[in-house]
Amino acid sequence: MEKIFVLMGGCSSERDISLLSGRNIAEGLRSLGKYEVAEIDLKEESLASVDLSGASKIYIALHGGWGESGGVQKELDRLGIPYTGPGAKASQIAMDKIATKRILDKNSIPTAPWTTVTADAPVCPLALPVVVKPPCDGSSVGITKVSRPEEWRGALAAASSVMSPDSKEILVEAFVPGREMTVGVVGGKALPAIEIVTPHGWYGYDEKYNSNETRYPFVDEEEAKRLKLSEIATAACDAIGCRGVTRVDFRVTPEGEVYVLELNTSPGFTSHSLVPKAGMKTGLSFGQVCDLILSKASCDHE
Ligand SMILES: Nc1ncnc2c1ncn2[C@@H]1O[C@H](COP(=O)(O)OP(=O)(O)O)[C@@H](O)[C@H]1O
Ligand SMILES: [Mg+2]
Repeated sequence: MEKIFVLMGGCSSERDISLLSGRNIAEGLRSLGKYEVAEIDLKEESLASVDLSGASKIYIALHGGWGESGGVQKELDRLGIPYTGPGAKASQIAMDKIATKRILDKNSIPTAPWTTVTADAPVCPLALPVVVKPPCDGSSVGITKVSRPEEWRGALAAASSVMSPDSKEILVEAFVPGREMTVGVVGGKALPAIEIVTPHGWYGYDEKYNSNETRYPFVDEEEAKRLKLSEIATAACDAIGCRGVTRVDFRVTPEGEVYVLELNTSPGFTSHSLVPKAGMKTGLSFGQVCDLILSKASCDHE
């Protein structure tokens, strides 16, 4: 039997979610009866002490930090073992919201108007409301909507507090009113779009991890077509160079304008997660969705 190693856990703030994703993926792959699956709970940002002998492929179930921003991908490139999801370079770009927006702009893929500031900027350079973000976090930590001038300084402080001391640029983005939607892309093909419906139209930390009021209905197929969600999602993945699996998140205005918010290169795979839900909508089992992603595993030889 082919031997698959599922990497999970890690040291980022998303460790606990990653353990849930990883265990689910391992179970899903086992249920297919064709793989020997090993679960690796990583407790450091290195593969040096992990025995990967016999691994035919690696399934990356790490979220955030080193496991989603090119670190583990680079090590696996060096080892020459195929892994799931985008390569090191695309992972690094997608984790950096400013780098991502530069590339999306260059490729005429719609994103909200934006600029960058330093933590001492006295006033907001864009018309309010805006959203202030640290460029490189992933669970809505340090992100603030600024509707009134007096909220500006606090928003900069919140973003700075989660940024490393050597990173200076803070992202400021026009607030996009309306709805939130997401499209998983696997092997260059878009899965059915899902809407994220929150009570206050904001998918922050609490809505992600503490609330059970958030609903995730499928977007009506005709509407998804009209909004061109699949085309924009796959174009965004191509522009950033994402292969394997990526989840592209959108804001959609009441007028039907679509803006890419961000790309997630190691999307969640818990029982409530959106990419498996979208994959299962196409008739696959949870394990078969994992297997489809595994079938796209590859690595870049250095
Ligand atoms: N420009 C924006 N307009 C409206 N809402 C936004 C905007 N940017 C972020 N948000 C809200 O904040 C949430 C988190 O922002 P996001 O950029 O996805 O960061 P994270 O990487 O932390 O998920 C989004 O899901 C959305 O609900
Ligand atoms: Mg997000």
